[in-house]
Amino acid sequence: MEPTSSPRQLARETIRIESHLDGTNERSLADDVLDGLTRPFKELPPKHFYDARGADLFDQICDLPEYYPTRAERAILEERAAEIAELTGAVELVELGSGTAAKTRVLLDALQAAGTLERYIPVDVTESMVRDCAKTLTSEYPGLRVHGVIGDFERHLDRIPPAAGPRIVAFLGGTIGNFPPGSRRRVLRQIAGLLGPGDHLLMGTDLVKDPRVLEAAYDDSQGVTAAFNRNVLHVLNRELQADFDPEDFDHVALFDPHNEWIEMRLRARREHTTLVRDLDLPVHFDAGEELRTEISAKFTPERLQSDLTAAGLELVRWLTDPDELFALSLSRIHAH
Ligand SMILES: C[S@@+](CC[C@H](N)C(=O)[O-])C[C@H]1O[C@@H](n2cnc3c(N)ncnc32)[C@H](O)[C@@H]1O
Repeated sequence: MEPTSSPRQLARETIRIESHLDGTNERSLADDVLDGLTRPFKELPPKHFYDARGADLFDQICDLPEYYPTRAERAILEERAAEIAELTGAVELVELGSGTAAKTRVLLDALQAAGTLERYIPVDVTESMVRDCAKTLTSEYPGLRVHGVIGDFERHLDRIPPAAGPRIVAFLGGTIGNFPPGSRRRVLRQIAGLLGPGDHLLMGTDLVKDPRVLEAAYDDSQGVTAAFNRNVLHVLNRELQADFDPEDFDHVALFDPHNEWIEMRLRARREHTTLVRDLDLPVHFDAGEELRTEISAKFTPERLQSDLTAAGLELVRWLTDPDELFALSLSRIHAH
């Protein structure tokens, strides 16, 4: 962590970046590998996709013709950002899993036009993303202060600075869908803890639709999503001295109609054993055995509503695109 400043210095700083990952991220990767690759059904959490190359591949995915969520979410923001700015009166925007903050600019523009914008707080595990977007956004928005938090939103929400006025916490891109139902509600409850009585959560969720449209979005014809999926093996090779050959695995994306989520998996093309050297862990794959690398839950309005209620939140606005592909929900803590 970088040295702490007095409140007066803080108020003057245009860019402040704090990193909370020193060493703890490698530990979390090692723990997840030990846990996930020794189960009968192998599994890794999706946050490990996002080294600099993974983040770059995700950006390319957002531009693919098959990947409708980014375009649909942006369209909703463009249509409704002024209304969101007016309703919330927000002086600051906290963004969880901020990435390149591409769509965020639509919100920042609206808050700036409303004359309330003071501070942006991006939170992401990918250090380069937080540093780059702090630099770019402070030059694009004169007067904007950026307080970047390099950290894991499952572990470091308590490092987010206290609100300086009405705040929006944005959780875009459908990232909440990466959590299975139980931990989704736990994460939502923790996020609700960032909200005071005048604050709002703005969350993007992908909606249930034709499975063919969903599966195409996660298995594009150019193979970018396949490269993104295999990238987790490159991360394991580099960070834990593993010896995966990513080409030993096929990319699989399928819609599970029972759970209403997309699963991404890596399927072993042949029987083999890989050594994860740092953990002294041999990992055996049968031919055709699969490793689950991501779930991406698809929502109905009812499902989202019940998740929000369980987390102590109440829906203020349900915003969707004309084709009802994607939704943004604006919610606040439940007034008792
Ligand atoms: C699906 S991308 C979405 C990016 C952007 N918000 C958007 O809507 O296009 C997920 C982002 O969340 C970040 N991320 C994933 N898991 C995280 C975690 N546990 N803590 C912090 N950031 C995380 C990734 O680095 C990535 O930038």
